[in-house]
Amino acid sequence: MVQMLEDRFGRVATDLRVSLTDRCNLRCTYCMPAEGLDWMPAEETLTDDEVVRLVTIGVRHLGIREVRFTGGEPLIRRGLVDIVRRTHELGGVETSLTTNGLGLQRVAGALAEAGLDRVNVSLDTVRPESFRAITRRDRLDDVLAGLTAARVAGLEPVKVNAVLLRGINDDQAPELLRWCLDQGYALRFIEQMPLDAQHGWHRDAMVTADEILAALEAEFTLRPAEEPRGSAPAELFTVDGGPGTVGVIASVTRPFCGDCDRVRLTADGQVRNCLFAREESDLRAALRGGADDHEIATRWVAAVRGKRAGHGIDDPTFLQPDRPMSAIGG
Ligand code: 5AD
Ligand code: SF4
Repeated sequence: MVQMLEDRFGRVATDLRVSLTDRCNLRCTYCMPAEGLDWMPAEETLTDDEVVRLVTIGVRHLGIREVRFTGGEPLIRRGLVDIVRRTHELGGVETSLTTNGLGLQRVAGALAEAGLDRVNVSLDTVRPESFRAITRRDRLDDVLAGLTAARVAGLEPVKVNAVLLRGINDDQAPELLRWCLDQGYALRFIEQMPLDAQHGWHRDAMVTADEILAALEAEFTLRPAEEPRGSAPAELFTVDGGPGTVGVIASVTRPFCGDCDRVRLTADGQVRNCLFAREESDLRAALRGGADDHEIATRWVAAVRGKRAGHGIDDPTFLQPDRPMSAIGG
């Protein structure tokens, strides 16, 4: 029996984001401190079988139609290819991956062969010195090689996610777009959100969607793309008459919570109905306590029911979630 993951506002979650690890091999300043974080203990992390069990319940019983694997950095997870294959074999589900691209060169082919449909690669700059300043690692070439491998493997459209940081790469939007257009990657800028472990986010320092669009329009002609936006968070524009496009995800200044179709599962088996949720529902405890599929599905439905209307980042009472982005998944 299929029950939908519907909340009190009539939104139905069909897009499941699964974080496979909270660890990462980069240290992006807008995400975590230089020394990293206290990583999740192994015994708290879902095993591959547990991940697949929950994904299977989502797809078979709860109307999930799209599964995106995230992290931290999901390529660090040893069982990734196998998890992707078993998810794909459920049938009727699109699979994708959000990655920083390190190591993608080696596994892009295997992921495509396992049934992965698409990848999003995080890349905020094509300048080595800016890459080092943002990620605290000197690995730009690895990311670029990973992107090429994704395209060669047919994991298309290859999307690039970029965050602009004031005084670091906020003058590089046109340059990054030019590069992505040349390479055939679909670039999307994401407004920086208050999800960093250090709680260093400030509304005033954030580069807004309007600023990004103004910077791009100084060098390109942008037209709103025709295709309906639906629940996609990116506002899409054609560039210089197309076919190239650019997207802007204005999570903060133009929230799209009303159209949200997502639900999240953390690497330790907690359902989060929003990136900014302050409560979680413990599916791991249910799973390890011997609950059957129906009981787990019922818990999951209840967790989504409690989803709030919006994230409220602009409310004076806004509280940043306890978990940082790297432990929730993008
Ligand atoms: N705000 C916006 N985007 C973020 N990402 C990570 N942290 C933040 C943040 N605080 C991005 C990453 C990646 C995706 C998962 O989310 O760059 O592209
Ligand atoms: Fe790693 Fe992504 Fe966080 Fe950067 S933003 S440190 S790539 S998890």
